[in-house]
Amino acid sequence: MSSSSSSYCTVIGLFLAFLLGGSSCNGQLTPTFYNETCSNVTSIVRGVIEQALLTDTRIGASLIRLHFHDCFVNGCDGSILLNNTDTIESEKEAAPNNNSVRGFGVVDDIKTALESACPGIVSCADILAIASEASVSLAGGPSWDVLLGRRDGTTANRSGANLALPGPSETIAAIKLKFSNVGLNTTDVVALSGAHTFGRARCLTFGNRLYNFTGVGDSDPTLNSTYLETLKGICAENGTGTDLTNLDLTTPDAFDNKYYSNLQVNEGLLQSDQELFSTTGEDTIDIVNNYSANQTAFFASFVASMIKMGNISVLTGTQGEIRLNCAAVNANATSGSDGLLHSSI
Ligand SMILES: *[C@@H]1O[C@H](CO)[C@@H](O)[C@H](O)[C@H]1NC(C)=O
Ligand SMILES: *[C@@H]1O[C@H](CO)[C@@H](O)[C@H](O)[C@H]1NC(C)=O
Ligand SMILES: *[C@@H]1O[C@H](CO)[C@@H](O)[C@H](O)[C@H]1NC(C)=O
Ligand SMILES: *[C@@H]1O[C@H](CO)[C@@H](O)[C@H](O)[C@H]1NC(C)=O
Ligand SMILES: *[C@@H]1O[C@H](CO)[C@@H](O)[C@H](O)[C@H]1NC(C)=O
Ligand SMILES: *[C@@H]1O[C@H](CO)[C@@H](O)[C@H](O)[C@H]1NC(C)=O
Ligand SMILES: *[C@@H]1O[C@H](CO)[C@@H](O)[C@H](O)[C@H]1NC(C)=O
Ligand SMILES: *[C@@H]1O[C@H](CO)[C@@H](O)[C@H](O)[C@H]1NC(C)=O
Ligand SMILES: *[C@@H]1O[C@H](CO)[C@@H](O)[C@H](O)[C@H]1NC(C)=O
Ligand SMILES: *[C@@H]1O[C@H](CO)[C@@H](O)[C@H](O)[C@H]1NC(C)=O
Ligand SMILES: *[C@@H]1O[C@H](CO)[C@@H](O)[C@H](O)[C@H]1NC(C)=O
Ligand SMILES: *[C@@H]1O[C@H](CO)[C@@H](O)[C@H](O)[C@H]1NC(C)=O
Repeated sequence: MSSSSSSYCTVIGLFLAFLLGGSSCNGQLTPTFYNETCSNVTSIVRGVIEQALLTDTRIGASLIRLHFHDCFVNGCDGSILLNNTDTIESEKEAAPNNNSVRGFGVVDDIKTALESACPGIVSCADILAIASEASVSLAGGPSWDVLLGRRDGTTANRSGANLALPGPSETIAAIKLKFSNVGLNTTDVVALSGAHTFGRARCLTFGNRLYNFTGVGDSDPTLNSTYLETLKGICAENGTGTDLTNLDLTTPDAFDNKYYSNLQVNEGLLQSDQELFSTTGEDTIDIVNNYSANQTAFFASFVASMIKMGNISVLTGTQGEIRLNCAAVNANATSGSDGLLHSSI
């Protein structure tokens, strides 16, 4: 960066730091970003999720998946939340998302509560990051200080979502590549896969493993035969594929390390889960064994990897905007700093 642009940064940054309540020009997220402007943001988000959990036990898993599918496509910019318009091809309809991403109503409820408490301040991208932490800790997992200060993008990238998001039938090699494309390494692959300690999956995401794995009427040999029979009872051959089952058969709604001990007895649900343990020679096997033996180690890695993932290509400072409705770009989005117009100064 040239010296002229960094002095611009200093002067304008100080001004914006006042307006935006802590924005920093160097683009770093910080856990205290909303201290002055929306100090109760964490408890407001958590409260809405606690309410939602009363009637929807899988909502926490759905919300963390939104954050993950947001961050892998053009960074953590809330792009996954945008609806179709004349100019936006929503990421919601990308193949890895269509008919499976959910939780938008709860995101809208969170946004409504935040707009009431501190209008125009909290981005939708930050809502997904905060909601992920709340969902994990409410399910018995770790708590952590969420880094904040993301701003919302003004575009979506459906073709990017189709290319960048990992799929349930992909090999470990393909998944590692998709993670490395966004700066995440093998430890991150294994730790973040641990989010499959809760939530559900549709039969069509693992049905290939049950009836005709290699085209000769066989099943995936790395699938536990007892579990195979259970799954065949849930997913009919040639069925619609829309029936749901638990990603973690042992403790379906708890955030713990049972996901990894399931892999050790060939009870990972998705092919992409089981490959972490069953692919001969892979460096993921030792990491699975570590997390299976030591939940503290899993939690520590998971938190570190969530913070890394939440930092992918974020918009900060004067970039992007603070969306007023998470499903739509602000009506007056002509420049990059519309959030200023709505800050409560
Ligand atoms: C931000 O708020 C938290 C929690 O209230 C407090 O612990 C921390 O000291 C505050 N930090 C700053 C920089 O104001
Ligand atoms: C923050 O939220 C909690 C829980 O909703 C509430 O009890 C508390 O009064 C709020 N504090 C402020 C300063 O708004
Ligand atoms: C998404 O799914 C809906 C309902 O199944 C379908 O009508 C629509 O065409 C799908 N979108 C895309 C882009 O495939
Ligand atoms: C969309 O995403 C793809 C894959 O991540 C990326 O290569 C492409 O540059 C993105 N397009 C835009 C317009 O951001
Ligand atoms: C992945 O990156 C983290 C730091 O972000 C590092 O601690 C860890 O050792 C790396 N893992 C691998 C397999 O390189
Ligand atoms: C299994 O897959 C093969 C190759 O795709 C196909 O020819 C065969 O009909 C399938 N068998 C069944 C029972 O679906
Ligand atoms: C499923 O479809 C395949 C291919 O059409 C067929 O061979 C098989 O008998 C069907 N299975 C059932 C249970 O209907
Ligand atoms: C299959 O799972 C059961 C537990 O459900 C376990 O006792 C058994 O060892 C597993 N078999 C294999 C081959 O992993
Ligand atoms: C479990 O992992 C934690 C965090 O890495 C480590 O401090 C602790 O020593 C480990 N415990 C055992 C029994 O290995
Ligand atoms: C287990 O994971 C923890 C947390 O990432 C790490 O500190 C530790 O070195 C790992 N232990 C082994 C034996 O790989
Ligand atoms: C986030 O990304 C920025 C820019 O790549 C980097 O400077 C910073 O160290 C990262 N922060 C964390 C916590 O990973
Ligand atoms: C976005 O789409 C959803 C589902 O179709 C709809 O309920 C919601 O009202 C839309 N929001 C906006 C701002 O268009």
